[in-house]
Amino acid sequence: MRTGSVPAKRHTQFRQSNGKLYSEQLFSTEGFSSDYSLLYHIHPPTEILGTDIPISLLPRIAEEKMLSHRSFEGFNILPAKDYLNSRKPILVNTDCQISLASPVQSLRDYFYKNADADELVFVHEGSGKLITPYGSIVFGYGDYLVIPRGTTYQIVFDTENNRLFIVESFSPIRYPKKYLSKNGQLLENAPYCERDIRTPIIQDPIDLSGDFLIRIKKQGMLYGMHYAHHPFDVVGWDGCCYPFTFSIHNFEPITGRLHQPPPVHVTFEAHNFVVCSFVPRLFDYHPLSIPAPYNHSNIDSDEVLYYVDGDFMSRKTVMRGMITLHPAGIPHGPHPGTVEKSIGAKETKELAVMVDTFHPLQLTTEALEIENPGYSRSWIG
Ligand SMILES: [Fe+2]
Repeated sequence: MRTGSVPAKRHTQFRQSNGKLYSEQLFSTEGFSSDYSLLYHIHPPTEILGTDIPISLLPRIAEEKMLSHRSFEGFNILPAKDYLNSRKPILVNTDCQISLASPVQSLRDYFYKNADADELVFVHEGSGKLITPYGSIVFGYGDYLVIPRGTTYQIVFDTENNRLFIVESFSPIRYPKKYLSKNGQLLENAPYCERDIRTPIIQDPIDLSGDFLIRIKKQGMLYGMHYAHHPFDVVGWDGCCYPFTFSIHNFEPITGRLHQPPPVHVTFEAHNFVVCSFVPRLFDYHPLSIPAPYNHSNIDSDEVLYYVDGDFMSRKTVMRGMITLHPAGIPHGPHPGTVEKSIGAKETKELAVMVDTFHPLQLTTEALEIENPGYSRSWIG
């Protein structure tokens, strides 16, 4: 990406019309040894006026260890006015943190930066605009917003009705390696390509002095940092590290004569977990095929499924916003009756997001508050 005004050569004099130098900022999330971007600010991004007393955002763990199939009603998470207050951690481990949120108000009174984790914000309900120093991204139903850790942002929602499924990743969220060429291009057999990726549209730089509060998440604490200039004062940038969005509706499903395993649905990956998209698709076309998935024993990953829309072929009762957790260690499979029912079906309308973590997840108090009791015994016919 290259957008706005940048000097012909990096790390050289680049002056404003008043003769002052623009302030160059290198932004990366893995030191100086991976992707980075160079941004050009009107003012240095370092002018701290003061700091607030930090508050804890650490998840409240209710069950550190367990071995049981679980289910939660995600839409029972209550709406909250403030964007950060609305985010409720549900399932967590040291690689990622899965939260649900129903923010009512736009995030405009302050700025937010997650210095701990890349954020993957799946928009289940609602639409609006993500605003960052890189520019703005318009989003809507079905969008995955990918926000590298350290990106300062605000969010404007079009209405008060918003439902978000958020994965915070303590390592960079990447395109799946198996779908990348050795030079980083999405391969011809990938379920999406570069044209499906929407990148920030640069806005006019905001040259304002004052007191600008950036709330920064670091080690699970929220620090208030007051800066002397508006953080969206960027005139141009280039590089490979920036927020973007991809719509689940643009995921092109990979299908076959027989049931395809979950890896064909992989959409993003990070250290020790993957994110998959289950989208409407034609079913298997072998004359004797069974479209419903087989029982399987994933001994090394916890499977989290977030139900978005449509009928889900392998479950008896599914509500929008429902989450199931099938932990490593015990097999799971289709509910009674769903295997026979799937035979002969030509297509599915299911839409779901799956997160497979390679280390066990812990349950928070907020998760227990929205739990569907008795789910572990729901396979009894
Ligand atoms: Fe599974």
